[in-house]
Parts: sequence; structure tokens; C-alpha cells
Amino acid sequence: MSDEQPTSAPAAEPVSADPVDRVIRYHIQTKHHFNRYARSLGFLDWVNQPDPFRRYEGAQLFSLPLLKADEAPVSPAYDAIYEHGRVSCQPVSLSALSRFFEFALALSAWKKAGDSEWPLRMNPSSGNLHPTEGYVVLPEVVGLDLKPGLYHYAPKEHGLELRSEFPSEQVTRLLSRFPVGAFLFGLTSIHWREAWKYGERAFRYCNHDVGHAIGTARIAAATLGWNVVLLDGVDQNTVALLLGTNRADDFADVEAEHPDCLAVIWPFGEVRGEALGVRGHIKEVPLFLDAKVVNELAGGKWHGKANRLSREHGVHWDIIDEAADASWKLEAQQLIISLPESYPQPPPHSLLLTPHGFSAGQIIRQRRSAVAFDAKTGVSSATFFRMMQRVLPCADRPHQERPMPWDVWPYEPAIHLVIFVHRVDGLTSGLYFLVRDPKKLAFVQQSMNPELTWTIAPGCPDGLPLYRLLEGDARKLAVQVSCHQDIAGDSAFSFGMLAEFEGVLRERGAWWYPRMFWESGLLGQVLYLEAEAAGVRATGIGCFFDDPVHEVVGIKKLTLQSLYHFTIGGPVEDSRLQTLPPYGHVKRIS
Ligand SMILES: Cc1cc2nc3c(=O)[nH]c(=O)nc-3n(C[C@H](O)[C@H](O)[C@H](O)COP(=O)(O)O)c2cc1C
Repeated sequence: MSDEQPTSAPAAEPVSADPVDRVIRYHIQTKHHFNRYARSLGFLDWVNQPDPFRRYEGAQLFSLPLLKADEAPVSPAYDAIYEHGRVSCQPVSLSALSRFFEFALALSAWKKAGDSEWPLRMNPSSGNLHPTEGYVVLPEVVGLDLKPGLYHYAPKEHGLELRSEFPSEQVTRLLSRFPVGAFLFGLTSIHWREAWKYGERAFRYCNHDVGHAIGTARIAAATLGWNVVLLDGVDQNTVALLLGTNRADDFADVEAEHPDCLAVIWPFGEVRGEALGVRGHIKEVPLFLDAKVVNELAGGKWHGKANRLSREHGVHWDIIDEAADASWKLEAQQLIISLPESYPQPPPHSLLLTPHGFSAGQIIRQRRSAVAFDAKTGVSSATFFRMMQRVLPCADRPHQERPMPWDVWPYEPAIHLVIFVHRVDGLTSGLYFLVRDPKKLAFVQQSMNPELTWTIAPGCPDGLPLYRLLEGDARKLAVQVSCHQDIAGDSAFSFGMLAEFEGVLRERGAWWYPRMFWESGLLGQVLYLEAEAAGVRATGIGCFFDDPVHEVVGIKKLTLQSLYHFTIGGPVEDSRLQTLPPYGHVKRIS
């Protein structure tokens, strides 16, 4: 695709088969415009609303204990999870796994209005449709009453379904280059769940949700003193083999699962006097797996057939398969990260400590999306700066020395924020910009309108690359470009996440396209929790008019593209809704 092409024109013939051109075509075709939304059914086909719970019929379900907040492992202070070494490390046990899945992917509540009830989860999801499924690959663990194998997480039951038993020595071989206590975590997406409502744009939303789930998993692990890194050197066929998503018989006549990613999790630190962070002389963690061992594991005995989620699919959106196919990661990469000898000191407490002494668990459990804001509540500049600081990955440090949760992300940051400031005490209203990697400042400036002024935001702490571009009331503009949603203007501030786009895709390949959304979802997850900790509330915004956003700052062609919007402010509760406990429906025999 040449630089001369307009950013929103339909693709010209002949159609390029280059995967990068194909994902760019998907991106352009699924933009919302003032006069035309991306294609979808246009109405909600309620009869065929997808079941939000995948189950594998015939697979044995192992219940995880439903732990009260004060049962071990008890959640640390919210601020402690961001500092390496402040949370004591838990051994891998049934209750620790239960806490991990609770904070990562479990139900957080049921909402009730009249006769209707619907569940919410710890991880947010566009339209509450929850396309993301979670998996775990466990080795033999002393004292853990679960066989080595692959398990699917069933959120409604809070249990693990055994998809395949893996011979202990083979799993040990698979994990032999990782630190002691390591196990694997995997995510897949059922595109149909989002496509049912959102049509062609759904591939974007599924990937935002993957990013949020990477975030909830990383943060859940941090509450247990565990470390997580994305195993992104693994090719996607290997992810499919290990998670069983390629097993045609198990998915015959039901909605497919798209294999997204794997991560390695390990307890880092001292457990029962044993140094677990380092296995002998392990100083490096590979971000790939031995494909031969995965092949052997996949050849074992599998259990269960996936359930059907909708009786009928009115429309099949081929372009989603096309984007998924074009962005399929064909090649493995021998990526390696180094484990640090010691961790750097966290930034000064006065800046990063939240004012209230919440536990991490409290914040994670209470996270909700605001459905409306009061158009009054603001945040202080100190709170605003703290939030901005939290989303800085500190790109000058080696990966494993970056602050949680950015240590999960084995890449340089490629998402920056254009911020509509409405109600931040001490800052004039207007348009601001956070450059998440200071090395990219010149590139970002050259990609946008040259007439913008780049003034460091007044009162901004040293080292925070936050700039003021324009002064003025940006409320109407924020609403207008966010598909006319008032939540973008009635908040304290809202923002668009701008990805370094075409250059990165051309340099790294089309498989990077979903990862742009993952990074934006991860960033959103950090701010969902930060908002709760600051006594306000957030909402992700997937519906925005793409090119009108780009015009606000004069983005040139496809250099930067807005992928996700977000808003934070004082919420207005919907008093018609009742909130019920997450697991009131589960009766356990103890
Ligand atoms: C990727 C993404 C996009 C979203 N887009 C919107 C949006 O455009 N407008 C909106 O009001 N809420 C949006 N939401 C919020 C969801 O509706 C919300 O997460 C879902 O209903 C579940 O509720 P909860 O976050 O309170 O658990 C979005 C959430 C995500 C994760």
C-alpha cells in the first residue's frame, strides 16, 4: 500500500495478497465514519445470542475452591503489586490457582433488572460478550490435586475442565528451560461472540479483550508474587496444537476458537526457604517452546466436545476470517529475555501511592465500567499524573525490570495517548499527548499536524512525557468522535490510543496487527483499576469514528491509527439494576 493512498478509501483492484496489505485492508474497511458505520447485522438477533459460557461436554470438571476475601492467599495492598519484591510469593497450590483465576477471568457479579439476569466478569469485554477463553497447562506439582495436563477454565463454575492429560515427564521437558514452578497460561477467542453483535469490527474487539485478559492475568499473578511473560516467540500453529483449538472433531458444527497467545507464569522469590526465581543458573527465559514436545503432547488422549453457542448464525463475516488468517503468526522466533540480578527502585512513593489503603483484591473485584458520568466530578492533577505514570513501561529498562504489568509485554511500547482533558484540577482543559516511549517523540510529532504546540504539561513530574497540544473545551469534540457517546465528554478526561501503525506492520509483519490491540487492552486494564483506586470509574470505548479522530491532530496517512478510546470520571449508577454475588448460583459440597 503506497503512501499516496487515502486512509479510508476502499481497496483498489487488483487486491494485494501481501498479509500486511490484507490486515490494513481489514482495518480500513472496519472504520466507523460519520455517515457510515462498519458493517454489522444492524439489529440484535436475540434468539441466537451466543452462550457466554463454553463448556467441553465429556471433560471432567475440577472445582476450584470459592475463597472468601480473608481466606489465604490474602490479597496484598493495591500499591504493593506494582513493586517487585513487595508481595510475598505463594507456592502453586489449588487455592493460589483459584485466586489466580478468580482475579483473572472469574465472574465478578450478576446484574438483575426485572426478570433478566446477566453476569459480569473481572475482565471487561466489549458489549459484555466475552469472546476470551482461558487455559492452563500444569506440570506435576507436589501437593496439587490436579494431574499434569491442559485445562480449560469454566468461569460460571469456577472450575478447570481437563482437556488432555499430559505425561508428567513430557510436560517437565516442555518447561525445563523455565524457572522452577513454571506453568503455562493460554488465551483463545471465539470471534462469533463479538461478531454476533458488532459484525466486521469484531476482530478488533476480540483482540482488545485479549489485551484486557493479559492484563487481568498479569495483575492476578502479581497479587500472588508470581511473574508472567508472554511467550510470543511461539508460532500460532503451535499455540493451536497445545490448546487443542485445531481439533476439528472437538469443534465439529460449533463455533471455532482462535488461538491467541501463551504466557509462562512462575513464582518469583522465596517459598518455604527455597529460591524459586532461579533454577540452578537460569538467568534467561526463552519466549518459545520446543515444537517437537508440543507435537508429542498433542498426540495424546483428549476429552470433551465443545458446546454450540448459537443455534444459527444469521450472517458469517468472512472478513474476520480473512483478518485472522492474514495475521496468523506462521514463524516461531527464538526470543529470550534476561532475568535481572535485582530490581530497580520504584519511582518516589509520593507520586505513585494511591491515597486510600485498598487491597488489590478489593480494587479488582469492584472494577466496573461506568455506564454514565455525572459531568461534574474531576480528578486532581496529582491523580491524573499518577495514572499517566502507571501506563509508562519505562522503555529504557530491560524488559524484566519494567514495572508490572509491562514486564509481561516483551516489546517496545508502540501505543501513545491523545487526551481530551475536561476536568483535571490544575490543568487547563484541552488536548494533551502522552508519548509512552520518549524515543518516539520525533516520529510522533512528524506524524501529526506541524502547527501543534508541544508544551510540557504544567506541574508535570520530571520524566513524564506529557505535553499540552491545544487549550480549549474539548468536551463536544470528544463526544462527537466517540460515536456521540456522552461518556467521552461527561468524564474528567477521555483519550484515544494511537498505535504506531503502518511502519510497525511493514517492519514486523501482519501478525503484529492483533498485538497492537493487545497492548491497548493491557493499557486499558491498568487504567480501569487505577480509576477504581482513585475513587472514580472508567469505561473502554470501542465505538469511535476513526478518521475524524485522526483529523483532530492531523495524523498523516497510516503513520498512527487510533485503536481504542477510554474515559474516566465520576460514575452515575443505574439505580434500576440490582447487583447479586458472583457465585450465589454455585452450591459446593465441602
Ligand atoms: C474493548 C471494549 C470496548 C468497549 N466499548 C464500549 C463503548 O463503546 N461504549 C460503552 O458504553 N462501553 C464500552 N465498553 C464497556 C463494556 O460494555 C463493559 O466492559 C461490559 O459491559 C462489561 O461490564 P464491566 O466492564 O462492568 O464488567 C467496552 C469495553 C471493552 C473491553
